[in-house]
Amino acid sequence: MTTLYINPAVQKGHINPELQGQFSEHLGRCIYEGLYVGEKSKIPNVKGMRKDVVDALKKIHVPVLRWPGGCFADEYHWKDGIGPKSTRKRMVNTHWGGVVEDNSFGTHEFMELCKQIGCKTYINGNVGSGTVQEMSEWYEYMTFEGESPMSKLREKNGHKAGWNVDYFGVGNESWGCGGNMRPVYYADLYRRYQTYVRDYRHDGHTRKIACGPNAGDFNWTKQLLATCYEGTPASAHGFMDGLSLHYYTLPGDWVGGKGSATEFDTAEYYHTVKKTLFMEDLIKGHGAIMDQYDPEKKIGLIIDEWGTWYDVEPGTNPGFLYQQNTMRDAVIAGINLNLFNKHCDRVKMANIAQMVNVLQAMILTDGDKMLLTPTYHVFDLYQKHQDAELVESVLVDNDQVGMGDDMVPRISESVSRMKDGKLLITLVNLSAEEEAPLTISLSGEKAGKAEGRVLAGNMDQKNTFKSKNAVKPAKLTGLTVKGDQIKVTLPACSVAEIVVTQ
Ligand code: AHR
Repeated sequence: MTTLYINPAVQKGHINPELQGQFSEHLGRCIYEGLYVGEKSKIPNVKGMRKDVVDALKKIHVPVLRWPGGCFADEYHWKDGIGPKSTRKRMVNTHWGGVVEDNSFGTHEFMELCKQIGCKTYINGNVGSGTVQEMSEWYEYMTFEGESPMSKLREKNGHKAGWNVDYFGVGNESWGCGGNMRPVYYADLYRRYQTYVRDYRHDGHTRKIACGPNAGDFNWTKQLLATCYEGTPASAHGFMDGLSLHYYTLPGDWVGGKGSATEFDTAEYYHTVKKTLFMEDLIKGHGAIMDQYDPEKKIGLIIDEWGTWYDVEPGTNPGFLYQQNTMRDAVIAGINLNLFNKHCDRVKMANIAQMVNVLQAMILTDGDKMLLTPTYHVFDLYQKHQDAELVESVLVDNDQVGMGDDMVPRISESVSRMKDGKLLITLVNLSAEEEAPLTISLSGEKAGKAEGRVLAGNMDQKNTFKSKNAVKPAKLTGLTVKGDQIKVTLPACSVAEIVVTQ
């Protein structure tokens, strides 16, 4: 039987709340319809933001939101999205579905959305088709509080005070949709563009993020860091605070078909789960290269796009990337969030793609209706890890489950000491068919009381607009505590949280 050994006395690092961050792009029905319906909509809203969606997001304490893309970011010209809405430019969203982008959601609306959610802001600037001046002025517009052309413009548009830009990305996927650049060329551009993202307030509140690699492109990381460390150490505060990494889980591939979100067999389930585990190799690999330049780990690995990517739901616009969400997605979310916790010494932020109606979403909407996906519930179960301290833990006798070449460990876990002193254990049973008995040992420390919640179901179970609560967390039953040991049996294909009060 599998045992989870926890050493509560050994703390391994701080879990940034931002590990549970989100991403919202001008893509399909994420921003428009999903988050923003406009003030005149019949759908209940506050200043145009959907009330039902914002309320649900507040419950999981979204720590940070990335915007406006993604690929959209490198074609976004921020001045199109400010000023009276009637005069804002109507244009084509070339990347995503060729639909009209009316720019009714721009900088002011994004800041308002983050205020309503109560989260930090992560703005992604345009390097691919934007100038240094444009990026510099956007940052000035958002943050500068003295007298300048951009601060006056902001005031004219109704916002006298500057906003906090907690994170600023200098380009997105510059190796692909953001300009098809080579790493050294991009690195030079990074050095140049970031120079003009000026710390007007002299408070260093903005963390600057360089565009990092696509999945296993270790050469990109190496060349980028080598170039950015020439002369000026990139880890010097204010030059580079983060390096992004994008990795999506596809059951299939980009060319031959990604696979269905809902119609899959057990073999495909395990194949998808196995591909998810590659995330750990990526964190270790890119982390090792970063260690060569930044052994003190001042630069965070920022996994600002992750999640599952399937074929779109039949009958929907292929450019909208709308997909359903099942217990398979819940398992994948649980595994990834555990991995981010385990590597919190280097991973400082992660943003699932995307928040509403796109890819591995928290929330799906249909007109005035909305539902919470299994992935939303995983973020709910894990939310108390935010701002906690990672605790040493290791699984032994964690046998493999799966099929053929796609064998995976039965259980995934991470453990933290929360601010209130209690322990939070999050667990995933990766087996699609078998329950997983587990002994948890607190290495001599009394366990006291343990209670928990679990999200479980068949691997393809999902919530639909007809059956919104088919998958939802329930009390985790059968927990027994004796001395320093807790015993529990995790249902097949499940994600659980256990809170231990010692
Ligand atoms: O999240 C969808 C797209 O995936 C983003 O726009 C892009 O950065 C990535 O390729």
